[in-house]
Amino acid sequence: MSDVERLEAEAREAIAAAESSQDLVQVRARFLGRKGSVAGILRSIGELPAEERGAVGADANRAKQRIEGWVAERRAALERSSHDADLASHRLDVTLPGAAPPSGRLHPVTRVFRDVLDFFTGMGFSIEEGPEVETDWNNFGALNFPDDHPARDIQDTFFVKGGNVLRTHTSPVQIRAMTGRTPPFRFVAPGRVYRHDSDATHTPMFHQIEGFLVDDRTTFADLKGVLHAFAKHMFGPDTELRFRAHFFPFTEPSAEMDFSYRGGWMEWGGCGMIHPNVLENCGIDPERFQGWAFGMGIDRTAMDRFGVPDLRLMFEGDVRLLEQL
Ligand code: DAH
Repeated sequence: MSDVERLEAEAREAIAAAESSQDLVQVRARFLGRKGSVAGILRSIGELPAEERGAVGADANRAKQRIEGWVAERRAALERSSHDADLASHRLDVTLPGAAPPSGRLHPVTRVFRDVLDFFTGMGFSIEEGPEVETDWNNFGALNFPDDHPARDIQDTFFVKGGNVLRTHTSPVQIRAMTGRTPPFRFVAPGRVYRHDSDATHTPMFHQIEGFLVDDRTTFADLKGVLHAFAKHMFGPDTELRFRAHFFPFTEPSAEMDFSYRGGWMEWGGCGMIHPNVLENCGIDPERFQGWAFGMGIDRTAMDRFGVPDLRLMFEGDVRLLEQL
């Protein structure tokens, strides 16, 4: 074995034994540094007989390149294994299920309202809103209630200081929406209403949806068509409607309607042709224009749809109810 071969073998062993990149720096310096073994051989070439110098110089340079290659290989291997160790110590199982954040739920009434409003906006109705504290005029007077009408009675209506009331129905939104507007128009008005009533089937606050359309030619037949489509949307395609003659001060003629339900009928709401006095109270000429309106509660539909057994559960704000939906 020549000196160069011995040197290479030694270097190879030392490189393989290096356990860290610092070790490796030292090993490299030992063999390839300015004062290292290869440099020593190159330096001593001058002492050799002239005919050997070329071969030893070439050997030494080749050794230098080989050692450089082994060092690079070893460095890469050390880096790889320290990266692997790093990964192993920070092991993360991305297939584990995450912690689900608690999520809110929409109230059944909100969900039914959204469904109803989707349906009516799809038919070209716009959404109108009015305040829950309403004037006596908008809630009663403009809707053609006579001054002595029993609905104004203290037993039904919550009176607010200053002569206002908590609206007892969504019909006053008709007055707000129609006043100052020229037909044709069609609106729906969802919202909270209040009545002095509280037992197993009544709460002092509940929800209604109001709908109305005014133009110069619409008829009760249009009203029935819209209500039929609405009922089928809400309760299923086989749903039928029944209209019973009734009285409301703000419509003439008026009807109550029931929808078919489990072989019988379920009361749903009221409707009719808007009374000429109501149009007049809104500044609309009843000789030129006519319209119809309807209104119904939403809470019972929401209870049926989501299987809520008791009306009072709907408004107690118990999140355990919502979590079940
Ligand atoms: N406002 C009535 C109520 O609360 C319901 C109603 C009946 C609304 C007939 C209407 C209607 O628009 O035309 O009992």
